[in-house]
Amino acid sequence: MKNVVIIGSQWGDEGKGKIVDWLSNQADVVVRFQGGHNAGHTLVIDGTTYKLRLLPSGIVRKNKISVIGNGVVIDPWALLEEIKEIKSKGVDVNPNNLIISEAASLILPFHAEMDEIREDAAGNAKIGTTRRGIGPAYEDKAGRRSIRIIDLISEKNLENKLNIILKHHNAIRIGLGKKIYNKTRLKKDLIKIAPNILKYSQPVWKKIDEFKLKKKKILFEGAQGILLDLDHGTYPFVTSSNTVAAAASIGSGCGIESINSVLGITKAYTTRVGEGPFPTELKNKTGEELASRGKEFGTVTSRKRRCGWFDGVLVRQSVKISGINLIALTKLDVLDNLDEIKICIAYNLNGKKIDYLPTGLENQLKIKPIYKTIKGWKKSTNGIKKFENLPDNAKKYVSEIEKFVKAKVSSISTGPERNDTIRIKNPFNF
Ligand code: IMP
Repeated sequence: MKNVVIIGSQWGDEGKGKIVDWLSNQADVVVRFQGGHNAGHTLVIDGTTYKLRLLPSGIVRKNKISVIGNGVVIDPWALLEEIKEIKSKGVDVNPNNLIISEAASLILPFHAEMDEIREDAAGNAKIGTTRRGIGPAYEDKAGRRSIRIIDLISEKNLENKLNIILKHHNAIRIGLGKKIYNKTRLKKDLIKIAPNILKYSQPVWKKIDEFKLKKKKILFEGAQGILLDLDHGTYPFVTSSNTVAAAASIGSGCGIESINSVLGITKAYTTRVGEGPFPTELKNKTGEELASRGKEFGTVTSRKRRCGWFDGVLVRQSVKISGINLIALTKLDVLDNLDEIKICIAYNLNGKKIDYLPTGLENQLKIKPIYKTIKGWKKSTNGIKKFENLPDNAKKYVSEIEKFVKAKVSSISTGPERNDTIRIKNPFNF
């Protein structure tokens, strides 16, 4: 039996929802380990659509335990709202099926404000964040002034912590000509909701150890994608957490030996929301067509996603950095109408061929993709469930990707419905 980490191998929005749904049905425990409510997963189960942002995907299924690890940043009001929303759809959420780490840091209203202020002031240098306060909250965590879930336990403790964090934030706010943040009101608001949050809180590392001893199947559910990783992504156009598979261990408190298989969700083309380098971006009719056929609008911010050809160099880099052994290829059917399809296999940098994404932003913006062109299949693959039923050129496209990125394709998604999937290998048994 294996524990599986699911992560996006590109810039997020690879279509994790459907795969997570399939695997969370087999898992006993589903763990979120990084990010916050900047993520957005849509699950459709028995005709009901659930939009999850912070809650692990296991929550919508009976007899599963959902865990929010210490690596996640939690906006307590957004969490309570999401719980309310999901309960209104008949889902039971209680301290037996939802566990939140006592060590997780909170996103507070001034974090979202700071995110807004910075983005608005940045002009051309803006990152295009989700404006949910994710970055400022992680900054406070690294600055050792975060308010964590456990700090909600006493008023005195909270008062102390608020003094420390607001001293820092108010100095910046004054510098930016903004009003100082009102501590009394925030403290009152936090104390009011504290019991509703604390009832779910536990030392998550200990619970995970128990689950491991009981041989429970654990699914670690990543958010965003590897190219948005704080260390390994297209810095500074990244999110503020580590999104690679190793973050599952840090962000939940389990040893790395607990992770047995890493499934990289990979879109059959490339998309990105927000700013930053995108070597294979198509600012033409083909790009528009991918966006409209692929319904490429963000689930969290409704922003239109930028679209481009499949970048094999980037995905191969993600496979290596994150130790991905299996790939779930998504949205293959979006390519059905194209005469020809391109895969980026190298870059040209100042007349030299390179086989990796350069580290510096300047060169990342300068590189030109070198493509291999494959003939399109010009037939509908929508809803195909068996690999042998794919048109020959579609099979060829999949096998080119598999060979190039050096990871096995374990499933291929051929439509939005849960069953529109070709299942080749089960990551839990692989
Ligand atoms: P932040 O995570 O809100 O700080 O945003 C930083 C960057 O990550 C921006 O480019 C966002 O568009 C991107 N981002 C954050 N969350 C997601 C996601 O769930 N999917 C895709 N992109 C995301």
